Amino acid sequence: MKMKLLKQIYYKIKCDKIIKKHANYKREKYEDRNVLESIIFPYMLAYHNPETVLDIGREGNQKFYNDFFSNRELWTIDLNPKHREFGAKNHVTDDVVNIKKHFKNNYFDFILMNGVFGWGLDDEKKIQTAFDGIYKILKPNGIFILGYNDEIFPFKKINGLNKLKKYKFEPLKNSSFKCINGNHTYDFYIKK
Ligand SMILES: C[S@@+](CC[C@H](N)C(=O)[O-])C[C@H]1O[C@@H](n2cnc3c(N)ncnc32)[C@H](O)[C@@H]1O
Repeated sequence: MKMKLLKQIYYKIKCDKIIKKHANYKREKYEDRNVLESIIFPYMLAYHNPETVLDIGREGNQKFYNDFFSNRELWTIDLNPKHREFGAKNHVTDDVVNIKKHFKNNYFDFILMNGVFGWGLDDEKKIQTAFDGIYKILKPNGIFILGYNDEIFPFKKINGLNKLKKYKFEPLKNSSFKCINGNHTYDFYIKK
């Protein structure tokens, strides 16, 4: 317990330093970037210690997210070939719909998909295939975090999400958290 607390302090300091160095504006408490960078990342690193991480969808402002996961096997994927330069050393240019083709089953400890659902992944059939793939490549006990602005397709109809269990994310005291800006929500899942 004491070890976990020390790790949490260590990663909070590490994440704060990365944010200070790279963030292009000051994040307000509980806005979407603050929640992701200052709450989700430090806790995931300290308490879940993921060895294999996949970040789906990368724009220029998130290139520095590679730093949060230094010394871990970080992968990124983006549909747009021009976004390769924002990705990790291990990067795939493809539609997340094809995610299953690129990775073995039960490969990732942590998968993040922020701002892709509703921002390019909008078609019902594609949504089903993408989330089925995410379910398969996530390890048992692995964590999937979905960040979105609008529920463009009813979640209860998404098979891949239904196979995951809701996960109470301790620092936010819930399995779903609505940020103070842009109707942005993070949902937390675990593969059991
Ligand atoms: C709004 S940005 C979100 C970027 C980042 N995840 C974040 O935290 O803000 C959406 C990104 O997802 C990518 N994208 C959209 N549809 C995609 C798809 N079907 N498969 C893979 N990437 C996709 C876009 O190219 C873009 O880089």
